[in-house]
Amino acid sequence: MNVVIEGSAKIIVPDSDIPEHARAIGFYNPAMKANRDISVAVAKSFVSGGRILDAFTATGVRAIRYYKEVGGEVHACDVNPRALELAKKNAKMNGAKIIFHAADWRTLNEGFDLIDIDPYGSPVGHVSSAFRKIRRGGLLFVTATDVATLNGVYPKTCMRRYWARSARVEWSKELATRILLSFVMREGLKYDRAFEPILSYQERHYVRVLGRIVKGASKSDKLLGSFERTDYGFIYMGKLHNLNGVETRGIKILEIAKNEIDVPFYRDIHAISKKYKCPLPKIDDIIERLKRRGFKASRTVFSPTGIKTDANEGDIVDAMKGE
Ligand SMILES: C[S@@+](CC[C@H](N)C(=O)[O-])C[C@H]1O[C@@H](n2cnc3c(N)ncnc32)[C@H](O)[C@@H]1O
Repeated sequence: MNVVIEGSAKIIVPDSDIPEHARAIGFYNPAMKANRDISVAVAKSFVSGGRILDAFTATGVRAIRYYKEVGGEVHACDVNPRALELAKKNAKMNGAKIIFHAADWRTLNEGFDLIDIDPYGSPVGHVSSAFRKIRRGGLLFVTATDVATLNGVYPKTCMRRYWARSARVEWSKELATRILLSFVMREGLKYDRAFEPILSYQERHYVRVLGRIVKGASKSDKLLGSFERTDYGFIYMGKLHNLNGVETRGIKILEIAKNEIDVPFYRDIHAISKKYKCPLPKIDDIIERLKRRGFKASRTVFSPTGIKTDANEGDIVDAMKGE
């Protein structure tokens, strides 16, 4: 066992040398720290004092951070009794009064203001239940780690799971994110609930969507109006982020998202430079040049070499050449 400090939490985690062993006891993934930092920052802006469910708690790190950094009544759930034992020990060590459930979270008969879904692999079996348990105006956060499926390595699996065509394209991370978003939204629309995105992104190993649930047929119809029939299927093409009211300072991805323009899909400047054998200036210079020419342009959360712009490919090439 090791001691780890993450955010406000100090927790015991299993040695990660043997991943199967760590999973059996309570899985802690240090690479998900940013996922948890972002979740806490967004939750803090909306649900202080509410009821929060960490549905897949493992070591309890996320629940402990929600308790200490957001506040409110925090519940944590895990089907694995050994993980729950470790999570309880960690909560005690942190003085966090968390309500634990040794169960499949879908069997809980309570309503929540925030449900955080962070399973191994795909979340598809869990999203529908979340919509029925979220209270009016509540938040739903969903992680998917089946990135090979969503990024176009296994398009058939993607079609079966998400009813959309993933593809290995320049913008596959945004496509993956829109495929997950579309799935989550459709699950809500069945119950006249609209999932309004707060933040949507992909890091290397996971896709994550954070949104607010608004009830009602007219809001649901409006959301459905942002779906389009594309080469990838019937996909949500609307806004990926709405960070009004969220404290973004100090978290890079939130700062980039706040300034990201609302244009699907991003382009990669390395790919364009290679394709047209044109120079590769600094990304901020390309963005400035495009803006000076009257186009909209910004960075994107999906890639440090990605740009969002309403300029066409020829105009991007001209801006890269400085013409
Ligand atoms: C990826 S880990 C969760 C990591 C954790 N959320 C974090 O941020 O560190 C997935 C956990 O979910 C648990 N789990 C799987 N299916 C579940 C279910 N239906 N209900 C509750 N817990 C479940 C597993 O036992 C495992 O501990």
